[in-house]
Amino acid sequence: MLNDISTLVSLCKRRGFVFQGSELYGGIGACYDYGPLGVLLKNNIKSLWWHSMIQRPDIEGLDSAILMSSKVWEASGHVENFTDPLVDCRQCKTRFREDECKEPGKCPSCKSPDITDPRDFNLMFETHMGSSTDSSSQIFLRPETAQGIYINFLNVMQSTRQKLPFGIAQIGKAFRNEITARNFIFRMREFEQMEMQFFVTSDSSMEWFTYWLSERHKWYRDVFHLPVKPIDTPDDALAHYAKRATDIHFEFPFGLEEIEGVHHRGDFDLTRHGQHANKDVSVFVEELKQRVVPNVIETSCGVDRLFLAALVGFYREDELTAGEKRTYFAFPFELAPYPVTVFPLMKKEPLMDLTHQVVSALRDQGLFAQLDVSGSIGKRYRRADEIGTPLGITVDFDSLDDQMVTVRDRDTAEQIRVPIADLGPQKLRSIHQSFRK
Ligand code: GAP
Repeated sequence: MLNDISTLVSLCKRRGFVFQGSELYGGIGACYDYGPLGVLLKNNIKSLWWHSMIQRPDIEGLDSAILMSSKVWEASGHVENFTDPLVDCRQCKTRFREDECKEPGKCPSCKSPDITDPRDFNLMFETHMGSSTDSSSQIFLRPETAQGIYINFLNVMQSTRQKLPFGIAQIGKAFRNEITARNFIFRMREFEQMEMQFFVTSDSSMEWFTYWLSERHKWYRDVFHLPVKPIDTPDDALAHYAKRATDIHFEFPFGLEEIEGVHHRGDFDLTRHGQHANKDVSVFVEELKQRVVPNVIETSCGVDRLFLAALVGFYREDELTAGEKRTYFAFPFELAPYPVTVFPLMKKEPLMDLTHQVVSALRDQGLFAQLDVSGSIGKRYRRADEIGTPLGITVDFDSLDDQMVTVRDRDTAEQIRVPIADLGPQKLRSIHQSFRK
């Protein structure tokens, strides 16, 4: 178990998962860059989510623009309501959120009671479109991807001939000028969301809310293999748009925290866009024989929080021999940045030639296969384990004669011989699974 996030922060930098944003210039608060391994892991997370959504006949995909008319944010209520209560300490000048203060009325940093009254601080980043900088050109960086879906709801429905109930899924960047940003990539100012909005009739909406909550819970258990805990949001803590909400939590080293929200947004968003754009956003529902403004059930998940949850949840430390420790990520096959690393027993011909052939054959079959030739084989195993590579393939001198390689499992260190001709994504996935039994 991981008790301290700093272990991960340094591992992430050393192995190229995550770097501090603008580090060369001293860093910029709550912005991070994903390195070579990070981008592979992040893409795998997004791909698992995307496939679970988009492979259904009742969900369509979308990639809407980050920049939208500022009227979108007036209609959505973000201009008015998307605020946090900002407080300043007059003594030590710390800025903090009143609602996150453990001792009300005192600065969380120096404990002084000499603090300002809270004032509403809007979390949206503002900028201007075009060459003028007056209020008519003001626009916002989107703080959620959901609004891009609502304003395209009719476009998607008409172009795909979907009928209620159906959903629209989207993955993309969101931006929030968070007052306090901490805990590594948990709370960032630029982050990524995976959101799905499911459009239903009002009568069926609570059933669909229960359905999606259960689907998402199952996804974490069966696809992502992480333990999560859903917690209902009390009515008085609901966001301005929500009728009901349950947040899916994960146990981080800094506490049980939200990674995803499942929200019943009623007809709030579509009704408001209809009013503000002066457009009819109702749709005809055959069974009801009337036009209705759909209700929305939303599943909203943070890619970066899931990334952090994966690092925390799959982190392992093994005592090998007295005093010697092995650390690794027990990532499932589908999640690992590299599912396999290929090692020649020695860096010389004709082993290297056969090793390159094995790597190329795996890459041709769409598998991200890493090649590692430097250092002892033991060191190479440790390096691959540390980044969570499930299987290691060793090409040795026997391989030249029998055209077989040794496949080693990361978690158990067990090994089997496999014909090179059999190596492929399906076979390797099933080998990985067989070591788990
Ligand atoms: N469309 C609904 C919505 O945005 P939210 O609860 O504000 O709801 C949804 O955000 C998810 O987005 C959160 O559960 C979290 O995973 C992620 N998220 C929100 N703010 C974030 C931040 N500052 N940094 C990283 N992830 C964030």
